[in-house]
Amino acid sequence: EKGGYDYFMLKEIAEQPKAVADTLLGRIDLAGNLCLDEVRIPASVLREVSKVVIVACGTAYHAGMIAKYAIEHWTRIPCETELASEFRYRDPILDQRTLVIAISQSGETMDTLMALRHAREQGAKVLAICNTNGSTIPRESDAVLYTHAGPEVAVASTKAFLTQLVACYLVALYLGQVRGTKWGDEILSVIRELSEIATQVDEVLETMEPVRELARSLASKNTVLFLGRHVGFPVALEGALKLKELAYMHAEGFAAGELKHGPIALIEQDVPVVVVVPSPRGRSVLHDKIVSNIQEIRARGARTIVIAERGDEAVAPYADHLIEIPVTPTLLQPLVATVPLQVFACELATARGNEVDQPRNLAKSVTVE
Ligand code: M6R
Repeated sequence: EKGGYDYFMLKEIAEQPKAVADTLLGRIDLAGNLCLDEVRIPASVLREVSKVVIVACGTAYHAGMIAKYAIEHWTRIPCETELASEFRYRDPILDQRTLVIAISQSGETMDTLMALRHAREQGAKVLAICNTNGSTIPRESDAVLYTHAGPEVAVASTKAFLTQLVACYLVALYLGQVRGTKWGDEILSVIRELSEIATQVDEVLETMEPVRELARSLASKNTVLFLGRHVGFPVALEGALKLKELAYMHAEGFAAGELKHGPIALIEQDVPVVVVVPSPRGRSVLHDKIVSNIQEIRARGARTIVIAERGDEAVAPYADHLIEIPVTPTLLQPLVATVPLQVFACELATARGNEVDQPRNLAKSVTVE
C-alpha cells in the first residue's frame, strides 16, 4: 500500500503534483474564471464580507498564514490568521460580516472545531477547507471547499499542506473575482499560473538528490535555523516544524527582518541556516533585503542553505548550498519552496534512524486539547 516507497511520507511527497492538480480540477472554467459554486455562501454575502479570520493548527496554520498575504493583496479585505487554540479562548470581535476560514486536513482537530463553534455562536460565517469528506469540521461549517489530496497517512503533513495552499489561493482569488477588485488582470494571470504549478512541483521533485545528500551530511547537527520574508516566513516555520517532528532536532523559523532583534545572536560557526529567497522579479525590495540578511549571517559563520528561484544570480555567491526552484509569482512560491524542506526533513529523520511515518509522541489527528 506504500506503492513501492519505504514510507507513506515519501509516497505522499511524490503524490503532490497530482494532489495539486486534483484540487484545481473543475474549479477553473474554460475562460479562466473560478467556479466555486460548491462554496454555498452566496456571492451577495461574500461581497459584504468586511473581515476574514483564519483559524487552524500546526501545518494548516502555516497555510493560513500564507493565505493572509494572498487575501489581503487580492481582495483588500483585512485578514487575520490565528492559532485555533488561542482564538477559542479569546474574546474575538466577530459579526455577520466576518468570514471565518477553518483549515484542517483531518476535519477532527479539537481546537479548530471549538474555534469554529465559537465563531458561529457570534454570527460569523464559517468556510472549512478540509481533506476528509464528511468529517466534523465541514459538517459544522456553513460551507466547505474540499482539498483533493487523497488520504494522508504519514503524521507529517505534506500533500495536504500543498492542497490547503491551493484551496486558500482559490478562495482569495474567488473573493477578488466576486468583489471585482482592481487586481482583475492579475487574478486571471495567477489562475493561469496556478494551472502550471503541478508541473513545477514535479520538476522540483526530480532535482531532490542533492537535498537528500545535504540532509545526510547534517545528521549529527543539533540545530537548524530557517529564515524567510513575506510568504517565505510561514514556509520557514513549516520547514522548522517538519524538522522538529521528524528529525527531533532543534529547529526554529524566523522572519528575516527580526534577525537583528534577537535571533542573530544564535548564529555561530557552521550552524546551518536555510533561507527562503523571494523572486528577484516583482517585489525586488524583498529580494534585496534577504540577500543582505544572507550576507550578514554568512559573515558570522553560518552555513547558508539557500532556496532561490532558478537563475537568481544575485544570491548564488552567498549560498554554501543552493537549491533552485522554478520561477513562480511571489505569492505562489510557497507551493514550490516547501517541497525541498519536506524532502530535507524526511531524509534527516531517516539518517537519524527515526520512525518517519509515526514520529514519537505525535498522533495524526489531535482530537484532544
Ligand atoms: O488535521 P489538521 O490539519 O487539523 O491537523 C493540524 C495539525 O495537527 C497538523 O498539521 C500537524 O501540525 C502535522 N503533524 C504537521 O506535519
